[in-house]
Amino acid sequence: MCGIVGYIGNREARPILMNGLKRLEYRGYDSAGIAILWDNKINVTKQVGKINVLEGELNGSKIPGNLGIAHTRWATHGEPTQVNAHPHSDCTGNIVLVHNGIIENYNTLKQMLIEKGHKIRTETDTEILVHLIEEFYQNGTSFEESFRLALNEVEGTYGLALITKYEPDKLFCARNGSPLVVGIGEGEYFLGSDAAAIISHTRNVFYLEDGEIAVIGRDGFVTKTIENQLIRKKIEKINFDLERIEKAGYQHFMLKEIYEQPNTVADAMRGRLIEEEGVAKLGGLTPILHNVLRARKIFITACGTSYHAGLIGEYMLEEYCRIPVEVEYASEFRYRDPIIEDDNLVVVISQSGETADTLAALREAKRKGTTVMGLVNVVGSSIARETHGGTYIHAGPEIGVASTKAFTSQVTALTLLTVMIARTKTMSAEEGRQIVKEMKALPGKVEQALKTDSVVKEIAAEFQDKRNFLYLGRGYNYPVALEGALKLKEISYIHAEGYPAAEMKHGPIALIDEDMPVVVIATQDSTYEKIVSNIEEVKARRGRVIAVVSEGDHNLDNLVDYTIPIPMTLNLLQPIVSIIPLQLLAYHIALLRGCDVDQPRNLAKSVTVE
Ligand code: F6R
Repeated sequence: MCGIVGYIGNREARPILMNGLKRLEYRGYDSAGIAILWDNKINVTKQVGKINVLEGELNGSKIPGNLGIAHTRWATHGEPTQVNAHPHSDCTGNIVLVHNGIIENYNTLKQMLIEKGHKIRTETDTEILVHLIEEFYQNGTSFEESFRLALNEVEGTYGLALITKYEPDKLFCARNGSPLVVGIGEGEYFLGSDAAAIISHTRNVFYLEDGEIAVIGRDGFVTKTIENQLIRKKIEKINFDLERIEKAGYQHFMLKEIYEQPNTVADAMRGRLIEEEGVAKLGGLTPILHNVLRARKIFITACGTSYHAGLIGEYMLEEYCRIPVEVEYASEFRYRDPIIEDDNLVVVISQSGETADTLAALREAKRKGTTVMGLVNVVGSSIARETHGGTYIHAGPEIGVASTKAFTSQVTALTLLTVMIARTKTMSAEEGRQIVKEMKALPGKVEQALKTDSVVKEIAAEFQDKRNFLYLGRGYNYPVALEGALKLKEISYIHAEGYPAAEMKHGPIALIDEDMPVVVIATQDSTYEKIVSNIEEVKARRGRVIAVVSEGDHNLDNLVDYTIPIPMTLNLLQPIVSIIPLQLLAYHIALLRGCDVDQPRNLAKSVTVE
């Protein structure tokens, strides 16, 4: 995720800013940049790659100013290039800012600014904001007021820091949905998108809340709302250590990423749903929209967790779009010589965008002359670049090796694709509206599902020593069973298998005895009665059943060993909620077994070899 650092004081800003950037490296980034006001000029340096590349670029240059901002960028709009890296400047170079978050209405604002003669140089949403401030300022408004008025025009999320030649002794910052903390020193202030960036300088801080602005000088600061109401901030003392901060207080990145899911699911759909019309729009598909909408068959190809998301995609695309879908492991697809026609669509799904098999499958599909779209997390990755069009899932950097938040964001993005296609076919506006409405309720339901943590912990304690687990699900929850089993095996090294529940009696039932925990996803959908029968079959053989059930459903209380209640939603969206307790279960079991949760043995985050 992007990181922000800022400094105003009497010391040289550069080493403080560079040190702050290094403290934010753990968040993941693809480029970095710095801007320092010195000698009546703002000096901007930015580079693709690691911070030491930026450091190399700065070596030898003399910029001893004591007001500056810096940024690590995790690309969302526009590839990770030097031009797209932050800071971004207005037409004159006299206003410079760094930004975390997503400006949703940037396209509309961009058109307006271009018409007014602004020169937009990058593909980013951020640059639009700096020109918008310039636009207000050019019209004779004071700088501080221009900053505030521009923020009032913006829809979306931001944490931002700005410096300007017009106010050479002030550091401007604002927050809406993306955190910012201000550290207070002696005649100096430090800004960070998280406390890790500033904690080595001071522990006295205040946090900006959504809709708040701070204008910071060397001798003090003013805080107000973007509606121009002055506010007083409470000064707090940070008293936790650096490592805890980097993981936002969580013990592991995996747990942090599990808990990020209410936000990442919201980010995957942000700005892409039109509730009144019951439709989804995916800007990245514009160049291939015709081929996407007229596809007579869809292939989905991916590996691991992304493949499981693809299976859910198959269920929803076939149900709502009535288009035949085939899902295949990329490693098979690439060598199998599949029959692909001109009017087919190949969807490749990858968190990293670098998985060797998926990349090869994509190239094979292109060789056959078909349209290939990507569903990718890492902006500007090889897969994102080589597909004809695509959709970013905007999950932010996933650092834990076991994929969690990428999965729920992939399924969210597949739902958007389904609604987009289905609405051009037989899906009514009413049905579209119902799905969109339920999608908007998803972050809250994911949040609710996270509250199962304490019961999941108890279950983990009881079953941590088992050598085998079976995961069962039907319909949309069948791929969830596969994913739950994958999570457990990869981080706890316990053998686990996922099965369609009814398939159990064709073989795996032979394994069941009192030593075999069976995790069943038994939410109330059209297959509920059937899955209850499958649970009976397990219990008849003395299997231990852990059932993920719909909130309020007590039918299974006396039949199974444990229930984990989660909120209900539409069938196609249920996997996004039902996977949550299974991610937590894998996490807690692995932890109890002393496994290295973030770096499981033998696994790499990005599998770039065949
Ligand atoms: C499982 C996991 C892997 C990846 C797989 C594909 O937790 O992380 O199974 O899902 O290696 O990776 P991407 O999505 O980066 O192509």
